[in-house]
Amino acid sequence: MAILVTGGAGFIGANFILEWLGNDLPAIVNIDKLTYAGNIDNLATVAEHADYTFVHGDIADGELVSQILTQHQPSAIINFAAESHVDRSIHGASEFIQTNVVGTLNLLEKTREYWLGLDANEQQRFRFLHVSTDEVYGSLHTDDPAFTESHPYQPNSPYSASKAASDHLVRAYFHTHGLPVLTTNCSNNYGPYQFPEKLIPLVIHNALQGQPLPIYGDGQQIRDWLFVTDHCSAIRCVLEAGEPGEVYNIGGLNEKTNLQVVNTVCDLLDELEPRADGKSYGRQIEFVKDRPGHDRRYAIDASKIETELGWTPRESFESGMLKTVQWYLDNAKWVDRVTSGDYRSWVARHYA
Ligand code: NAD
Ligand code: TYD
Repeated sequence: MAILVTGGAGFIGANFILEWLGNDLPAIVNIDKLTYAGNIDNLATVAEHADYTFVHGDIADGELVSQILTQHQPSAIINFAAESHVDRSIHGASEFIQTNVVGTLNLLEKTREYWLGLDANEQQRFRFLHVSTDEVYGSLHTDDPAFTESHPYQPNSPYSASKAASDHLVRAYFHTHGLPVLTTNCSNNYGPYQFPEKLIPLVIHNALQGQPLPIYGDGQQIRDWLFVTDHCSAIRCVLEAGEPGEVYNIGGLNEKTNLQVVNTVCDLLDELEPRADGKSYGRQIEFVKDRPGHDRRYAIDASKIETELGWTPRESFESGMLKTVQWYLDNAKWVDRVTSGDYRSWVARHYA
């Protein structure tokens, strides 16, 4: 028995695979296109693991996906593969449509063909879990209640619009074709192996490089931060006990403004890796032009997954942030490798 994971060389997928293989669970097959965000080094420690297979490929490649399904006969698929960075989607949306929408559609269609060939028991046990984001729900005002699973879809960025489209396709394959799908909509993740274009690793990296810490607009935008391994445990929980056709919101109960997040990083670095001049990293903060269409606030109501499936996050913001900053300090080589080439030209273009 095996499960198929897509996009497993990225931030969340890699954390998921590393934990999965450490827990004596079924074998895992990982298909990843290895875009700039996918890093095979993330999985170096399990590359030779008997229960791990890596396939370099695109989820939009129908022949390849069918061949993997036939060969490995997975009992579940977890779809992490995506273009995931809002700022990149503002510079150009076509890759987002190609992977997040066309790729997911292809995966669904090939999965449906495969699923139809399983026997009745296997069909019933099979799951297609689609990993999505809270950003599909749009933006909240300060006093609005947090997003529940029935909140209307109001995506505001090309990234969130592409994820919303993929969520709708997943839903349609359940209602139209009976494919046993599950969808999770999670808040902002942070932790080891996150590509340093996203706020927290970018700020850690820039701080240590003596570079400005760019805060968009007034820095009062709010995100609900969840430590990545808590997201992974929620996915395992939904995979095991979620009801086909259902949607589960996942969140950390950690609403913070961007400025609070950046100040937390600075405080931790001041303690763990003080600047040579003894001054605070906070001096490197710079307020820069706001992101176009910047969503003001995201907040997740995670009561459904908590009451129905018994999941709660383990990590507090304080403990998760300490682990994260320490991981980046201990893994400077990883950061060096991923911040060469393409990364530098992206930063130059975006923050110009
Ligand atoms: P990431 O950008 O770090 O990784 C994405 C991975 O997908 C990379 O390894 C990349 O190579 C791979 N990939 C891209 N296009 C592909 C294709 N066509 N075929 C195969 N592989 C492809 O993203 P992440 O932060 O790990 O996010 C994973 C999933 O979780 C995404 O679907 C994202 O929308 C969702 N999500 C992320 C967050 C977050 O805070 N990072 C929060 C909620 C939901
Ligand atoms: P990000 O990590 O890109 O995640 P998302 O846009 O999916 O929420 O950004 C988190 C927040 O931080 C978001 O409100 C944008 C803001 N931000 C900055 O202020 N400066 C930056 O350089 C980046 C990358 C993000």
